[in-house]
Amino acid sequence: MLSVRNLAKHFIIHSRGSVVIPGFAGVSFDVPAGSLIAITGPSGTGKSSLLKCVYRTYIPSAGEIIYTAKDGSRVNLAAAEDWDILSLRRGEISCVSQFLRVMPRVSALQTLIEPLTSRGAGREEALDRAACLLSRAGIGEALWDMYPATFSGGEKQRLNILHAIITKPRLLLLDEPTASLDKGFKDRIMEMILDLKTEGTAMIGVFHDRDTLLALSDLRYDLVRGAYCDPADQDPADRNPKEAEKKANR
Ligand SMILES: Nc1ncnc2c1ncn2[C@@H]1O[C@H](COP(=O)(O)OP(=O)(O)OP(=O)(O)O)[C@@H](O)[C@H]1O
Ligand SMILES: [Mg+2]
Repeated sequence: MLSVRNLAKHFIIHSRGSVVIPGFAGVSFDVPAGSLIAITGPSGTGKSSLLKCVYRTYIPSAGEIIYTAKDGSRVNLAAAEDWDILSLRRGEISCVSQFLRVMPRVSALQTLIEPLTSRGAGREEALDRAACLLSRAGIGEALWDMYPATFSGGEKQRLNILHAIITKPRLLLLDEPTASLDKGFKDRIMEMILDLKTEGTAMIGVFHDRDTLLALSDLRYDLVRGAYCDPADQDPADRNPKEAEKKANR
């Protein structure tokens, strides 16, 4: 469903004398429908930037991101018009960002039903689906009419994930989606992600812990090696921060 080819991103900081900050380079991998590719690498190697390039928050510096859309057309997300990107985000591509963003003065329930009603779903149907997801994620009814700005970090994170998955996107980008959740809630969210994968959603994920990575991913692509790795194959950098630093500086 998605083919990333020779993708690169660097940042030119014009306000600092055009200094160039490297992101990542030479990244190539494929994401078939119904599978999850985990992206790994030490902090600062460009995992979030890669997801942002696929979601087109960032424009890549080089390479292609070929996405096969629902209607069968092939779109290069690296070069598509903003208008087409917005339409894909509305219809088939969702992203859970590493840092949480919530709508001010919109209730949790309304935050969730909006993506459905704006795509033409009836209000009752949207309410049913939102209620079902909120319950599965362990967000109590007392909170449904509250503003998410007052939610705890973990509650915000769960709502953020529900907002991305409620429309059953075809392509889902996950940047450390369960980082602030304890085991019980993490398991619930992982189950929902696995259900979506079974229904055919293609996913790219960044995970802060090995258990989540192993439970969810089919393949691992390591940004430092620039190659696929077995998810279970533990990188020495994961065990040894000094090794990670050495690799990051290579
Ligand atoms: N908008 C930006 N402007 C300038 N530099 C940026 C920008 N976004 C990312 N970078 C730089 O790109 C590099 C990669 O950052 P990125 O956030 O993608 O890393 P990461 O692998 O996700 O790290 P972490 O594991 O800490 O989340 C960093 O050096 C970062 O400072
Ligand atoms: Mg990151």
